Amino acid sequence: MSDTPADPGFVHRFEPGREPDRAPLLLLHGTGGDEHDLIPLAERLAPDAAILSPRGKVNEQGLTRFFRRSPNGVWDRDDFEARTLELAGFVRQACAAYRLPRPIALGYSNGANIAWNLLLKAPDLLAGAVLLRAMLPFDPRPLPDLRGVPVLLIAGTDDELIPVERAGLLAALLGEAGADVSYEALHAGHGLTAQDLALVGEWLATHR
Ligand code: MLT
Repeated sequence: MSDTPADPGFVHRFEPGREPDRAPLLLLHGTGGDEHDLIPLAERLAPDAAILSPRGKVNEQGLTRFFRRSPNGVWDRDDFEARTLELAGFVRQACAAYRLPRPIALGYSNGANIAWNLLLKAPDLLAGAVLLRAMLPFDPRPLPDLRGVPVLLIAGTDDELIPVERAGLLAALLGEAGADVSYEALHAGHGLTAQDLALVGEWLATHR
């Protein structure tokens, strides 16, 4: 861990990398997680990368998230949009304070869902994104121009929370916006598998 910028806005962890010119990783945890959760994964898959890892600000009955949803699971669209912009502001400020180039987001579940909206609402913010168990529950058009932005999206065909067809819709939508999308649907549930890790490691090795 290292110094924090004057007004970070989000509780977060920052780990300096050993390759300052390569893209840092913006880690976005799942529901019930925190800023520490994905760090071992990132350190294993991209050991030299700088890491910026904020904690979501929403508390859902004790579970930390990046945006609100109703008790029956429906996303609060206004909150989703506002929290996306707030998170984008944090990323910009933290990257300036820590002197980081544009990060690649690595999000899991709820964190992957806010990551794709960062791509749509702040298209210059990220150098790419790894979206693990993300989904598209509504049509977010109009789309920005995401040409040249690499995205890896990995779904689980037996995911009990994320219907795999909604992950497929997200892959198609990001492709429609021009992103360079790699989409994989694994025989897996909501939890990550060794195959996820292998795919993410390979992808990061060629896209960072
Ligand atoms: C979400 O709300 O982002 C998704 O349903 C995944 C999750 O349960 O966190």
